[in-house]
Amino acid sequence: MKAGLDGVVVAETVLSEVDGDKGRLIIRGFPVEQLAGVRSYEEVAALLWSELSPEQETPENVSAALAQARQTAFERLKQLLPATAGLSFIEGLRMMLAGLSDASELSHHYLVTGAIPVFIAALARTGAGLAPVAPDAALGQAADLLRMMRAERARPEEEYALDAYLVTVMEHGMNASTFAARVIASTQAGVISSVVGALCALKGPLHGGAPGPVLDMLDAIGTTERITEWIGAQLAQGARLMGFGHRIYRVRDPRADVLKGVVARLRSAGSGRLAFAEAVEQTALELLKEHKPDRPLHTNVEFYTALVLDAMGFERELFTPLFAMGRVVGWTAHVFEQERSGRLLRPQSRYVGAS
Ligand code: ACO
Repeated sequence: MKAGLDGVVVAETVLSEVDGDKGRLIIRGFPVEQLAGVRSYEEVAALLWSELSPEQETPENVSAALAQARQTAFERLKQLLPATAGLSFIEGLRMMLAGLSDASELSHHYLVTGAIPVFIAALARTGAGLAPVAPDAALGQAADLLRMMRAERARPEEEYALDAYLVTVMEHGMNASTFAARVIASTQAGVISSVVGALCALKGPLHGGAPGPVLDMLDAIGTTERITEWIGAQLAQGARLMGFGHRIYRVRDPRADVLKGVVARLRSAGSGRLAFAEAVEQTALELLKEHKPDRPLHTNVEFYTALVLDAMGFERELFTPLFAMGRVVGWTAHVFEQERSGRLLRPQSRYVGAS
């Protein structure tokens, strides 16, 4: 038995390769650096879905289908939003996605992918006491999410940064949420159920729930003088530093550098936040090395995710829903791949209870 299924191969995939030793992420033949900030959300979604879904996945078709899905989701808000009263954003998103019907005529991978930005924007605006804003079919997912949240177009560099972030996190091998999606897909429960299950797995702080706590950590440290003392005390208590460590990467997560480049472009010169974060990162890496000399612990994607999303003015509670908006493309592509294999995922357990 392998606790945590470490090193266990559970599927063959054409979608991505995560090379943890070299720190490389290949998505359908392309290094992530050649996709994020270079090709749009819709283009990379078409790349991931192509030849797996039943649709013609050209960027034009994907853009049109996602625009239609956003409109469909917007029309469902009246029924779905009231049920989210009193819930956190991620709980609200979970509730609303679960409220989508398997009877929907639009292909379900489009429906869930287009629905997520509509639901995120509606939850954020409702939380602020504002009415939801209808989607704009002429925009891509990233630009429209920002517009639906703010009721006006964002600056081009913000639209670019969000698009680059979403592509960066779109697909990443057999991570916990993707595995959850594939287990559900293997029962033939369908795309929507698989995505709801994947979102539930993403929510945890050991997976997609870390970037909010990264900012909490930066706030708690507060000043450059306190970095060493604060991190040292955390490690001495056995606490984990959020934004560091990874099950697969034994070197730096390549996505961290992609996002570092994005945040550097976004920040106006003179902002101290990035410099402070870099100082925290540097000290954290040094102290982690001393603390766990046998376990290479490096910066993961969540550290710079926190900085990118914070620089764009998103509140922390929205970080995990935004991660889902990117990753849903990978989840649904894996669902198609799993459905093709046709094999129910059904491992075994070893009984160690009373005889
Ligand atoms: N800070 C301090 N110590 C750590 C950290 C960390 N961030 N990560 C791992 N360690 C330590 C563990 O405490 C453990 O020590 P032990 O052997 O004395 O118990 C040792 O390193 C090995 O840890 P594992 O739990 O075996 O590592 P695993 O591969 O399961 O962990 C994980 C990966 C969950 C990401 C972990 O590194 C962690 O908790 N990081 C912080 C949370 C985080 O950043 N999550 C986002 C991950 S990226 C993503 O999912 C998109």
